[in-house]
Amino acid sequence: MRRKVVIDCDPGQDDAVALLLAFGEAERLDLRAITVVAGNVPLAWTTTNARRVATLGGCTDVPIYAGCGRPLVNPLVTAEHVHGDSGLDGADLPPATVDLSPGHAVDRIIELAHAEDGLALCATGPLTNVAMALVKDPSIAPKLSRIVLMGGAIGHGNVTPSAEFNIYVDPHAARVVFESGVPIVMLGLDVTEQVRPTAERRARIREIGGEVGPIVADLLSFYAERAADGGALHDPVAVGYLLEPELFTGRDCFVEIVTEGPCAGRTVVDWRGRTGRPPNARVIDTVDDEAFFSLLVESLARVG
Ligand code: RIB
Ligand code: CA
Repeated sequence: MRRKVVIDCDPGQDDAVALLLAFGEAERLDLRAITVVAGNVPLAWTTTNARRVATLGGCTDVPIYAGCGRPLVNPLVTAEHVHGDSGLDGADLPPATVDLSPGHAVDRIIELAHAEDGLALCATGPLTNVAMALVKDPSIAPKLSRIVLMGGAIGHGNVTPSAEFNIYVDPHAARVVFESGVPIVMLGLDVTEQVRPTAERRARIREIGGEVGPIVADLLSFYAERAADGGALHDPVAVGYLLEPELFTGRDCFVEIVTEGPCAGRTVVDWRGRTGRPPNARVIDTVDDEAFFSLLVESLARVG
């Protein structure tokens, strides 16, 4: 059965690849909407980028909704130094011909949660939209099958020693989400950094040909050169979990979000169950890297 999902994202090169992966898996993923949040770059750019990627992927039947332009409490922190001023620097995507759909992403997430039994959310950016939907209408929590999110870390952060970017940008939203009671699957840096866009892999993607292969290879080359330690396919890994969870291992843990102070944005993962607190997330720690990458290449080849 096709899994119903909304992808909430902040494109960003890796978000773009995650969307294209989802487009190539239409037989397994029923993508009900793309919702966009500020993160890697401001909302004006992330929404434009979502439209450009949908155009590139020929995805004309999935509505795209603009969401929150800033975190719940903190000022917006962006990452142009990694993603470029546009958020998709490094390649020339075709001009966007897919338009935004009317309505706010938060309202559309709420409507879809009520309309689509068992809807999953896949979040690959700061959790502002997801948290706002849960605050505005808490009754959606039991209706969502799960929230699969790229964010956090068992170990080191990538923005500070403690914090991964998506959680760092909006830790208050992350706290709302992790306290919501919705089943969460957390794919943090520990697992996403196992999947690297190496030069050999970028060459394999370029060889896919068509319009998508070279553009994705160029996007990942730009990203790999700018991101610390060569970057990682963070967001595509989250979509990969939706598709083939058997490629991953993890553990049910209690996860607490630090919102203030020098460790703000930290996901404190009780990996050994020391707190006695009931688990609120399945925290993923390993992936079959080669199998996932083969899945990605096969899916991108279907997008064309
Ligand atoms: O820390 C990596 C995450 O932050 C990815 O989702 C990347 O796109 C950025 O949003
Ligand atoms: Ca992202």
